[in-house]
Amino acid sequence: MKKFLVIGNPIKHSLSPQLHNFWIKKNNINAVYEKKQLNSENLQDIILMIKERKIDGLNVTVPFKREIISYLDELSVHASKTQSVNTIYLEDKKIIGHNTDIYGFELAIKNNNYDVKGKKVLILGAGGVVPSIIFALTKMEAKNIMITNRTKSKAESLKKLFVDLSIIEWGKLPEFDMIINATSLGLKKNEAINIELLNTCKNKFFYDVIYNPRETKFLKDAKNNGNKIENGGKMFIYQAAEAFKIWHGFQPEISDEINRLLD
Ligand code: ATR
Repeated sequence: MKKFLVIGNPIKHSLSPQLHNFWIKKNNINAVYEKKQLNSENLQDIILMIKERKIDGLNVTVPFKREIISYLDELSVHASKTQSVNTIYLEDKKIIGHNTDIYGFELAIKNNNYDVKGKKVLILGAGGVVPSIIFALTKMEAKNIMITNRTKSKAESLKKLFVDLSIIEWGKLPEFDMIINATSLGLKKNEAINIELLNTCKNKFFYDVIYNPRETKFLKDAKNNGNKIENGGKMFIYQAAEAFKIWHGFQPEISDEINRLLD
């Protein structure tokens, strides 16, 4: 039986096992997908288990998407450009790190019929998933990508990977067409993002990477003000489907049942 794992810290709330095990069962694959909470000291051992074929693939989540890179043999172009790995597999005896978050975000935006081309986009936060979002926005030809983070140095370090990035002071609100919440604010019910004037915006696109709760206060307020909104559910499903394709060789079906698994 093949074995797959998602690793992170914390990992309790990860819904990846539900998604992958649903697809595994549906397609009669002899495999299991589990979650495991790790510390930095365990990363080397877990990679060794892939070399020894005790594990067939890994998903990596917060806070290890960058740290894991030093234990891998090769990176895909997307993983290398973002210095962020969320999917790992063995190929020709080499451990390969790939990034399917980019694909997940891009497809989610496209399926929402939003055209990023020529748009001004503001990203809130500078955590693990942000390099992938910036890469996807650049690929989709956003005109201006701005980032604001409570800890400014983290936003500034992203400029080493993406030189055209504009840094905005935390709390300030520049003119934008699309705003993305990539902070953890909103994971707790009704948790607000204290950016003045955010509540006065109209006819914009508000995107939240958070999908549980389905509608954060950020999205709820935006919707009440007549903005277009979307949560991170589709991105999460699409990144998982792309990882599944790498490991099992075909794209799994994204049905209504899959959407319901995120409830
Ligand atoms: P990590 O930073 O470990 O990758 P993450 O969940 O991907 O974790 O990112 C958390 C993001 O939410 C960060 O941008 C964080 O800002 P800091 O870099 O300043 O820590 C942001 N965040 C979390 N709590 C916040 C708060 N109370 N106010 C503003 N931003 C917050």
